[in-house]
Amino acid sequence: MSNLSRGLLLLAFFAAALLGLVAALVPLSTSLIEQWSRRDVELRSELVFNSIRDRIEREVTSPPQELGPLFERLTSDERILALGLCDASGQVVVATRRMPRDVQCHPIIASGTPVAQSVRFERTRIDGERVLVGIFPLTTGAATGSLVILHELAFVSDRVVEARWYMVVVGIALLLLVGTLASLILGLMQRRYMAGVLATIQDMRTGRPQRGVMDPVLKDESREIRGLLRDFREKIRQEDGTPLEWSPSTLQDLLENELPDAEVFVVSNREPYIHNHADDGRVVVQRPASGLVSALEPVMRACGGTWVAHGSGSADRETVDASDHVLVPPAKPAYRLRRIWITDEEQEGYYYGFANEGLWPLCHLAYVRPIFRESDWQQYVAINQRFADAIVREATRSDPVIMVQDYHFALLPRMIRAQLPKATILTFWHIPWPNAEAFGICPWKEEIIAGLLGSTVLGFHTQAYCNNFFETVDRFMESRIDREHRSVVFGGEETMVRPYPISIEWPPAALLSQQPVSECRRAVRERFGLPEDMKIGVGIERFDYTKGILDRLMAIDELLTRQPQWKGRFTFVQIVAPTRSKLPSYTSLQKEALRLTDEINERHGSDGYKPILLVVRHHEPDEVYELFRAADLCVVSSLHDGMNLVAKEFVAARDDEQGALVLSRFAGASSELGEALIINPYDVQGMAEAIGRALIMPEDEQRERMRLMRAQVRERNVYRWAGQILLDASRLRKRQRVKEFEEGL
Ligand code: F6P
Repeated sequence: MSNLSRGLLLLAFFAAALLGLVAALVPLSTSLIEQWSRRDVELRSELVFNSIRDRIEREVTSPPQELGPLFERLTSDERILALGLCDASGQVVVATRRMPRDVQCHPIIASGTPVAQSVRFERTRIDGERVLVGIFPLTTGAATGSLVILHELAFVSDRVVEARWYMVVVGIALLLLVGTLASLILGLMQRRYMAGVLATIQDMRTGRPQRGVMDPVLKDESREIRGLLRDFREKIRQEDGTPLEWSPSTLQDLLENELPDAEVFVVSNREPYIHNHADDGRVVVQRPASGLVSALEPVMRACGGTWVAHGSGSADRETVDASDHVLVPPAKPAYRLRRIWITDEEQEGYYYGFANEGLWPLCHLAYVRPIFRESDWQQYVAINQRFADAIVREATRSDPVIMVQDYHFALLPRMIRAQLPKATILTFWHIPWPNAEAFGICPWKEEIIAGLLGSTVLGFHTQAYCNNFFETVDRFMESRIDREHRSVVFGGEETMVRPYPISIEWPPAALLSQQPVSECRRAVRERFGLPEDMKIGVGIERFDYTKGILDRLMAIDELLTRQPQWKGRFTFVQIVAPTRSKLPSYTSLQKEALRLTDEINERHGSDGYKPILLVVRHHEPDEVYELFRAADLCVVSSLHDGMNLVAKEFVAARDDEQGALVLSRFAGASSELGEALIINPYDVQGMAEAIGRALIMPEDEQRERMRLMRAQVRERNVYRWAGQILLDASRLRKRQRVKEFEEGL
């Protein structure tokens, strides 16, 4: 039996016991009241007797009739019915008017008996009325007689009735009181019970220690709920084959079971390992500052296969084999990198021009005007074709699984499909997809959409971007949109369009080599020459106008203006990796950021204190994680961002469950990390307030928020992202095979 049911039973028992008690008290109280009333009347009779005794005994020799007026006066008391004097033979010799005729003073008390012992009371009925007869012996020398006093007892019944009513009223009042108390207690218990149930479910979701089991109210239920949830999750897992915890091994299992013998390719512009010549001529390996690379590299380490990308490093050509391959990661090779060479001129048109001056500002609503040049478009087409041809040459089977990444390769899916019709092409668009109106300004919108619709599956970070894509297709293409199955049929071919929120590996490789948080805090403060108790905020990203870096700097300016107590106690470390520096929109941002930093430091700094430290250089993952661990807060203030993995990396870095995240509502990550302090980066004052709040956030609150966010990032890690795309791919491949059987019949 549950504790709640036990509580209910106890209350019912208590109410029944109370009713029983009231019922038992009624007869008892009746008898008590009767006894008490009788005693009361007896005392009154004695009182009357004692008050007139002397006079009667004095006057007993005079004619007894003279006592008549005295007796009449005494019966004016409403409860004294009659008074009489009896002679020695027990006959009434003097009596008041209402004395019944048949009253006698028997038995006559023997002479010499002490008065106190010889007083007698009798209850009787006279004319139907209850009456108490009190007989008091008189002794005056040899003369004996007695005084008889008749008292009405009708008032006793009135008292009993009154007392019963009183008890009923008190009983009802008690019942009401108990009922109200019971419902209050039950309400509280129910609330606690529901909170416990929710906590149990939440704990199970987040993998936290079982709070419910510790709670005596919920001990049994908590176990039961957890058991049921486990069964339920297991059932789902069995039904759709989705693993519960995603890891490299579950992804490998999935590939083996669902896509046996699949030949896997990843295609992206940015390569995961860049070989560069250092100043001293040595060849060094660099990991690029790219969300795409952070997400896909662990997937490729788990799955193996070939990653096709632009060889952009100064030493890249020296490190590949005759077929432009190099095994990576250099320390522990797990997959093959196939480098594609692009001339500077091609790079100008394809990468800087069409991809980054055209599509990038087109898709990011950051109020930078997109620039479309015919020559850039031609280069974009040519490079997409070069990558398509390279993949077709690399493929050893007719049905490879090709994961096409990002806006650099919008035309690639259709180009590959033209040469490998059986390929499973999984395209992922890493940046936002704007609404149809915004996208409509692109002069080659139809070609881009048609290119993407060569994919088997087309993925975006969020459902909102999928909806924008459907709307764009609807507006500009002759096609059939099946919103129920979330697909588009174009030119007789179907493309599934789904949201797959990208993430990071869990646990992050860079976290494994980290020192304890206290050590990171000390090391970072020492490196920047900051005192031990200095609060640190961090921002880490490419130097890109979509990241809202200027707005963030202005928010810090605002904070220090409105809350000057932070001057000298708070430093914001802004790390920016140089990127696309050839483009005027980037160089002007970079110049403006440097100018603004100097201005703010001038305004609020003093005695060597600088509120903003702007560090413009590439940081390797180890350094980034150390900074995250050393910081008190992290600000991600993107004006528009597909997902933003910096936010997820900050959360992953904080295994101490401390640190506050200030996150833009315009970053896709905000729909998953709702426990961050969500801001509108265009509202500088609001952002300043959020940073101020993060600075004073109590440790408990930081822990609660961080725990929930970490559970989210752990569960929805990048293996899950890749796994879900691959699972969808495997379903479509199986369906395609069945279709081929049917067509062959
Ligand atoms: O946001 C999409 C993305 O591809 C990221 O993965 C990456 O950070 C960036 O755009 C591309 O940067 P780059 O031009 O330096 O490769």
